[in-house]
Amino acid sequence: MDATKLRRAIARTRLAPVAAFPKRLARVARHDAKVLRASARWLVTSREHHNYTYELTTLSRHHLSWFVSVVCDVPVGRVRGWFAEIEGDDELRRHIERATAEASRRGLADRQVRYARRIGWYAMVRATRPAHVVETGVDKGLGSCVLAAALLRNAAEGHPGRVTSLDINPEAGYLARTAPWSEVVDLVVGDSVASIGALDRPVDLFLHDSDHSRAHEKREFDAVEPKLAPGALLLTDNVTATNVLAEHAERTGRRFLAYRETPARHWYPGDGIGAAWGRPAS
Ligand SMILES: C[S@@+](CC[C@H](N)C(=O)[O-])C[C@H]1O[C@@H](n2cnc3c(N)ncnc32)[C@H](O)[C@@H]1O
Repeated sequence: MDATKLRRAIARTRLAPVAAFPKRLARVARHDAKVLRASARWLVTSREHHNYTYELTTLSRHHLSWFVSVVCDVPVGRVRGWFAEIEGDDELRRHIERATAEASRRGLADRQVRYARRIGWYAMVRATRPAHVVETGVDKGLGSCVLAAALLRNAAEGHPGRVTSLDINPEAGYLARTAPWSEVVDLVVGDSVASIGALDRPVDLFLHDSDHSRAHEKREFDAVEPKLAPGALLLTDNVTATNVLAEHAERTGRRFLAYRETPARHWYPGDGIGAAWGRPAS
């Protein structure tokens, strides 16, 4: 019996997994070694202990540009232009580097500025030109700065807007307390659900990125629904963990799409962006 026939014969028996064991072991070991190398490098080079920052792989960046293109119904070339715009914003980059170096929590923050999926948030604000953005969960304020940078560009083109950034921690948002970004950011301290209930202006773009428990995410989308402007865009940072926004979209007659990011050279598997949009007029 030749080797091919023998392999086929073994593949039909209960011995097949045993015979394939060396190959399977090599595959999983190669994968795990890559994660271990990235983890070891990160443990000695990074200071972060949560809300990790990283670049996206080139492929993941491509997929994000198409995701924004579909959700916002704009040509993908324009989205790539907005990615280049935020990544080439040296004034914002220098500000974040400086503010990070001076912050009281500097021992737990990396100096390198890495936006990951937040370039998608930026492009969505540039594409939809919202008058009022609400972001729940601020942490250092990296996302608030990115949203503010998009709003400032929109304002320069005649479409002003503001972002209300909600966090339960009074120390959150230190990156977003410097002009010109602070001029379009309203930091609100308190539980996000209560703060959403107190909003007195319609919301054009809502981003959940606070307490990532399923129950809290659902409470936020339920609370914001009556506050939304017609045609509002809903985003969640929790889409790799829950189906809350997809269920909300189905209940409210919207479309839904999810993007899962892939970090480059990092052990963390990444987060994503869930988007719900296009509620038919009632
Ligand atoms: C993942 S971080 C936000 C990241 C931020 N959006 C960014 O772009 O870097 C989550 C934040 O949610 C805040 N948070 C947790 N529970 C909250 C609640 N019930 N209400 C408001 N903020 C909350 C935390 O204090 C933390 O700063």
